[in-house]
Amino acid sequence: MSRHQRLGVNVDHVATVRNARGTDYPDPVRAARIAAEAGADGITAHLREDRRHILDDDIERLKAEIDLPLNFEMAATREMVEVALRVGPHAACIVPERREELTTEGGLDAVGGHNRLKPLVSQLGDAGIRVSLFIDPEEAQLDAAVSLGAPVVELHTGTYCEVEGAERERELDRIRAAAAYCEKVGLECHAGHGLNFDNVSPVAAIPGVVELNIGHFLVGEAIFLGLGDAVREMRRLMDAARPGAREAIE
Ligand code: PXP
Repeated sequence: MSRHQRLGVNVDHVATVRNARGTDYPDPVRAARIAAEAGADGITAHLREDRRHILDDDIERLKAEIDLPLNFEMAATREMVEVALRVGPHAACIVPERREELTTEGGLDAVGGHNRLKPLVSQLGDAGIRVSLFIDPEEAQLDAAVSLGAPVVELHTGTYCEVEGAERERELDRIRAAAAYCEKVGLECHAGHGLNFDNVSPVAAIPGVVELNIGHFLVGEAIFLGLGDAVREMRRLMDAARPGAREAIE
């Protein structure tokens, strides 16, 4: 098992700020370049149906100009599959999407959505794109990911981040159990949503979680620290939570 846990930096909300004024800055591709220099292992971007932040051209440029694996977050729609097949990202993370939501609320229902998801997962996989399903940390969802043939899951950490005290401990236990189950059934396990400097360490410490995807907090913190320093501090906290992580990449 890899001790170095990958950090995927999600640049969606750089585009949110840009789009608020209809300008061409701040540029999410520039942010991705800075994140890469600061030690990010991958760049994540979500092209939403309503294009509220990332635009089609951003995805094309992130793929063409950034020398890191691109994780393309997408709804399970024909339109998004076509974009993925055209752009050819390293990975595609399938997320649930509702037009009225502020962010991705809750995981994908891989159990109930099996018949709809199966052809999309196969098509993306056949094109050499590593498919990941963004799901809640539940065994039934993990079993469904296996039966869909997805090699990767991303565990939704949103509830863990929102609750406190004993409830947070219970949610952390669910994430730990799901990560252990991933190892048992051969799924690569990622995690993300709502992570920040204060809550990242217990999730980073879970041995089976090989990648974290973090966006909103880092972009917000960039206002105060600069994006490079925000990414470096997140990296430091992740490494500190995983003894031996530094040596593993040196
Ligand atoms: N992972 C997935 C699948 C997401 O949809 C998001 C939000 O776009 C994230 C991670 C990152 O969440 P946050 O922006 O809260 O760090």
